[in-house]
Amino acid sequence: MGGFFKSSIGRKVAMALSAFFLMIFLLQHFAINILSVFNPDVFNEVSHFMGTNPLIQYGLQPVLLFGVIFHFVMGFVLELKNWNARKISYAKNKGSANSTWMSRNMIWSGLVILAFFILHFIDFWFPEINTKFIQGDWSGLHEGVDGYRYFHELQEKFLNPVRVGAYVIAFVFLALHLLHGFTSAFQSMGVTAGRKKTLQNIGKAYSIILPLGFIFIALYHHFNHH
Ligand code: HEM
Repeated sequence: MGGFFKSSIGRKVAMALSAFFLMIFLLQHFAINILSVFNPDVFNEVSHFMGTNPLIQYGLQPVLLFGVIFHFVMGFVLELKNWNARKISYAKNKGSANSTWMSRNMIWSGLVILAFFILHFIDFWFPEINTKFIQGDWSGLHEGVDGYRYFHELQEKFLNPVRVGAYVIAFVFLALHLLHGFTSAFQSMGVTAGRKKTLQNIGKAYSIILPLGFIFIALYHHFNHH
């Protein structure tokens, strides 16, 4: 196993596998959050199920957090290795001549997403952990709020225009990161042969539609507060 991570291709495959996992998470995260726009009651029900189901809380959630941390750490390791290699054979890398801006700047788009994660966790994840695991309140209720609290909490967060602005900027960088990352992950797994164009198109659709959808959710709640 140690040998696998020491090889350049092993690291790339590990990076790609964690990327696939995170892209699937992002799809389900979007599917749940978009419910908040169309049907707050269903959003509340689904959020309560996700937030209280022991299999999700004690099984999937730790795996997800491990996946996120692994992807970040591996990304830094790959960048460092590339950087060291570049010092030796820089003549071959002529910037825009043989690579795109997005592919050369994965570390920067990644760092913006990391900054977003810190903000996003302070906004949603830490309060959730505090309510359930520290205060021991698994009821999903909040004084003065009719029904479950999740929709109400989400709308409160998106009142602040600075937060909404930061989220929107982060989602643009997420699109840039995905635009390169999607096809790159498939390439690392060797599944592009003969299907390159189709994959690129699916990648483009995923990378643009999903972040635009997240931007829509943030703006919708900012401008439609009940
Ligand atoms: C408007 C957009 C978004 C909204 C409204 C939103 C909402 C939420 C909420 C309410 C939670 C807390 C869930 C809980 O733990 O109970 C959460 C957690 C999380 N979000 Fe988002 N999110 C958005 C965008 C994103 C994006 C774009 C990403 C990734 C790039 C992301 C990654 C995460 C992660 C990793 C967690 C922790 C998951 C967990 O362990 O529960 N979110 N989000």
